[in-house]
Amino acid sequence: MPHDAARLHVTGQARYVDDIPLPQGALHLAFGLSDIAAGRLTSIDLTAVRTAPGVVGAWGAADLGINPDCSPSNHDEPLLSDGTIHYLGQPLFLVAADSHLAARQAVRCAAITTKADTPILTIDDAIAADTRFEDGPRMYGRGDPDAAIDAAAHQVSGRLEMGGQEHFYLEGQAAAAIPQEGGDMLVHSSTQHPTEIQHKVAHALGVPMHAVRVETRRMGGGFGGKESQGNALAIACALVAAQTGRPVKMRYDRDDDMMITGKRHDFRIDYRAGIDDAGRITGIDFTQYARCGWAMDLSLPVADRAMLHADNAYWLPAVRITSHRLRTNTQSATAYRGFGGPQGMLGIERVMDHIAHQLGRDPLEIRRANYYPEAGERNVPASPAAGTTTPYGQEVSDFVLHDLTTQLEQSADYESRRANIANWNAKNTVLKRGLSLTPVKFGISFTLTHLNQAGALVHVYQDGSIAMNHGGTEMGQGLFQKVAQVAASRFGVDVTAVKITATDTAKVPNTSATAASSGSDLNGMAVAAACDTIRSRMAAHLARVRQADPADVCFAGGAVHVGQDVLSFEDAAAECYMARISLSATGFYSTPEITWDRIKGHGRPFYYFAYGAACTEVILDTLTGENRILRTDILHDAGASLNPALDIGQIEGGYVQGAGWLTMEELVWDDKGRLRTHAPSTYKIPAMGDRPRIFNVSLYDAENREDTIYRSKAVGEPPFMLGISALMALSDAVAACGDGSIYPALDAPATPERLLAAIARMQDAAT
Ligand code: MTE
Ligand code: MOS
Repeated sequence: MPHDAARLHVTGQARYVDDIPLPQGALHLAFGLSDIAAGRLTSIDLTAVRTAPGVVGAWGAADLGINPDCSPSNHDEPLLSDGTIHYLGQPLFLVAADSHLAARQAVRCAAITTKADTPILTIDDAIAADTRFEDGPRMYGRGDPDAAIDAAAHQVSGRLEMGGQEHFYLEGQAAAAIPQEGGDMLVHSSTQHPTEIQHKVAHALGVPMHAVRVETRRMGGGFGGKESQGNALAIACALVAAQTGRPVKMRYDRDDDMMITGKRHDFRIDYRAGIDDAGRITGIDFTQYARCGWAMDLSLPVADRAMLHADNAYWLPAVRITSHRLRTNTQSATAYRGFGGPQGMLGIERVMDHIAHQLGRDPLEIRRANYYPEAGERNVPASPAAGTTTPYGQEVSDFVLHDLTTQLEQSADYESRRANIANWNAKNTVLKRGLSLTPVKFGISFTLTHLNQAGALVHVYQDGSIAMNHGGTEMGQGLFQKVAQVAASRFGVDVTAVKITATDTAKVPNTSATAASSGSDLNGMAVAAACDTIRSRMAAHLARVRQADPADVCFAGGAVHVGQDVLSFEDAAAECYMARISLSATGFYSTPEITWDRIKGHGRPFYYFAYGAACTEVILDTLTGENRILRTDILHDAGASLNPALDIGQIEGGYVQGAGWLTMEELVWDDKGRLRTHAPSTYKIPAMGDRPRIFNVSLYDAENREDTIYRSKAVGEPPFMLGISALMALSDAVAACGDGSIYPALDAPATPERLLAAIARMQDAAT
């Protein structure tokens, strides 16, 4: 089944925040931004702004009366600078005008003076100045890795740098606030987290949460960039709406969006590992440095998740993972698909590749030798002596990567292509090919345990039509379609009988962000619970009047079977209504069996793991660094898929976005802290032409071992990390330029410049 709004998307009828018609007299907002990265705001004169055409008001922090906090965590993000400037692009003042353009033009009339300090921009700057978000580094681990490494037959060590990533959602950040009677506020927000918008707006207005209603029909992409980054716009709109009594809208222009909002965290990872003669890791030490930007935002859980994915698919007998959360004068790095998982995982995948190079073995053989043991009866030998416990104490009891890898290895024809590529490379000096097969094991659940809850509200109308609402938000991933299918299946009706409605804090309260890939797991279960409540009320009534057993009532094929009697679902609904049976119910779900102590770094943070593997072949022009993905084969575990078409779409999109992060998307700040890549003219995301020439995506055929909704698995983020195979394939192609004496040690993103530099290193070492 296609996405419920697919036709609306491609015909331009789908409504986004900026498409919502506002009542007359609406105002439009724009922020004035700092042009230094660190220092003090010494004076601010908005006189010329206030008299600019179309302007209705302009406010610096001092004019607002209050300067509300926009932070999702640490109360360290004032809406407007309070005098201290933390990054280049920080909002300093706010303008309201009668058009979007008038507001943006008026911003330029401000007279502002600042006193600049030397900004802390890079990981090295932050280490030198010791600016961080916790007192010291966090550390997880077990055993004595140093002793194990020193005693091992072989050692590898190195450093890996990886850049951040702009979300580049097609719809930029946007919000609108419409004042209601009695001081209430209605907010439309392009957000993954309507409850947080409600909470922050209520706080800014000094009203209870019940006075603020937030509605989100859909986002044109979020990718984690709308978990917290929409707060400032919604708060600004609500404040101005409350002060003026007029509807207020704000949307960031693309350049402003990229200058103001946070992105993926860039990381540096240092590693040292000991390896036995079979290529197995005996001990490993990782130091992760995360560049968090100016505010705490979601950096602590992001950095935690990087630590929790430092093992990826591999048993690490003795291990230490140290994590530094560094504060810098840059945009506040935030959630982005995988939430730190990709960064942590790339560390160990680099180590696997490095070990294979050093021992002269095939990387896939090394990966397999280090895999956790296979779960269950599948007849695949586990690595000898491999343990099943992650560095953080969770048992890996659902591991399927031995079987999955074997299936992919065969369908992708790995072995013979590996040999063909070696022959081809031996004959070609300018173009080189590379191949890599990498696995993904991704933990599913919010690591902040209390977030693993969801609510739903379901109505059956007297004509048998169904309205469904839940706390999840739609950002293109197909959550609404999947959950509507759940509702339809509980009542045995066609999915067209179910109306999908906008997420609304007045219908379902206290929701979590749609994040951590848990949208369908949580909301699917909550909706099923609500439907089942209504269904059992209907069954009890219909059975009672027919003297049948309620257990024999069956909802299927658009009909309700009650003993011998069969009536349409519509008639059943009408009959229950006439008998005064309640046809409306809430549902609630909280994920069972998870416990996590993030201070100790121990417990079961994840309900289960999602698995996948990708095999990527690239071709590299060694004279220009240009490259293409020739072929990608993916086998991904979505459990018993709720919707294979949507899941395959998530896998394709996730892979391409992950490959984009590691190969072409490059963020560049200059030495003043100005982001130079702040528009599509300078920031390159993958386009249709960058899609693998051959792209074979299949779903691994297995149910979730845990009791999730219809035994499906979360699929939103895990496939992102399949993109790691693209970087490793490029590394393989670069390795083919040398004589094997040095390892390519390719950093990310592997842009043509970086590839050329790596090729030059290989050639220098060989001559
Ligand atoms: N797919 C599309 N099309 N657009 C998005 O913004 N966000 C991703 C993923 N897939 C995203 C997407 C992220 S970061 C997450 S956490 C999940 O979808 C959230 O949705 P889910 O929990 O319903 O999978
Ligand atoms: Mo996704 S980064 O958890 O919004």
